[in-house]
Amino acid sequence: MEDHVLSLLCDPDTRYSLERAGTNLRNTATGRIYPIRDGIPLFVSTLTGPNLKYQTLYDRIAPGYDLAESLYHWIRRKPNYRHEFLSELEIKPQATVLEVSVGTGANLRFLPHDITFYGIDISWGMLRKCERNLLKWRRKAHLFQAEAERLPFKVGAFDCVFHAGGINYFTDKARAIKEMVWVAKPGTKIVIVDEIERTVRDSSQRSPILRESFPVRSDKVRCPIEFVPPEMKDVSAREICGGKFYCLTFRKP
Ligand SMILES: C[S@@+](CC[C@H](N)C(=O)[O-])C[C@H]1O[C@@H](n2cnc3c(N)ncnc32)[C@H](O)[C@@H]1O
Repeated sequence: MEDHVLSLLCDPDTRYSLERAGTNLRNTATGRIYPIRDGIPLFVSTLTGPNLKYQTLYDRIAPGYDLAESLYHWIRRKPNYRHEFLSELEIKPQATVLEVSVGTGANLRFLPHDITFYGIDISWGMLRKCERNLLKWRRKAHLFQAEAERLPFKVGAFDCVFHAGGINYFTDKARAIKEMVWVAKPGTKIVIVDEIERTVRDSSQRSPILRESFPVRSDKVRCPIEFVPPEMKDVSAREICGGKFYCLTFRKP
């Protein structure tokens, strides 16, 4: 791991700095060890509730995730919706960018080449798929297995912080938003996007695993605007992509 990456990292629980310890990372104050597996530091704690459920689910669907997404857009003749929400990001030249819940890395393809890109995800399967995609696309990223609710980065580490497509099912949305604020530099616009509601009408057309994991809801999934800390500036929530997603944005003072 390069020095500039290590200098941004901290223990997600105590916030103390980390140092190299053989093939692991070690908390400089408590001595707690965080292993590195296949080049990816592991920060995930013992999971419970929705986080455990969705980690298991995404590990299972990771190998076919990209193909399923492409087929979905092809069958429904939907344009790729990523341009619309990624245009919300404010990315200066050579910015240090964090995607919380990076998945298979699909958003990176639409971002400039001169950035330093960091991605965290709770699912090892999705991170491994992301690594393979990076090789295919000849892009570089620093990946970490971590929960959105416990980010392993120092205060003000990033010029740009965004999240797309997971927060509706996080165990603790308020804490995840607090963490995104913590790791952003002052003045940073934070962008959070997720689906407003599941639009599949006939649930019998869905595979049992999807039916059980993403139940079709009659109530609208609500944008988590109530968890944005009151001191944030320029808070805005609106529907994008023809009403399929909400886009919540705000600026760290
Ligand atoms: C629908 S995918 C979106 C991936 C990517 N952001 C994209 O736009 O393609 C949701 C991702 O959120 C991750 N995830 C779910 N809960 C999480 C949590 N608590 N912390 C971090 N990642 C989480 C899943 O593993 C999955 O990769």
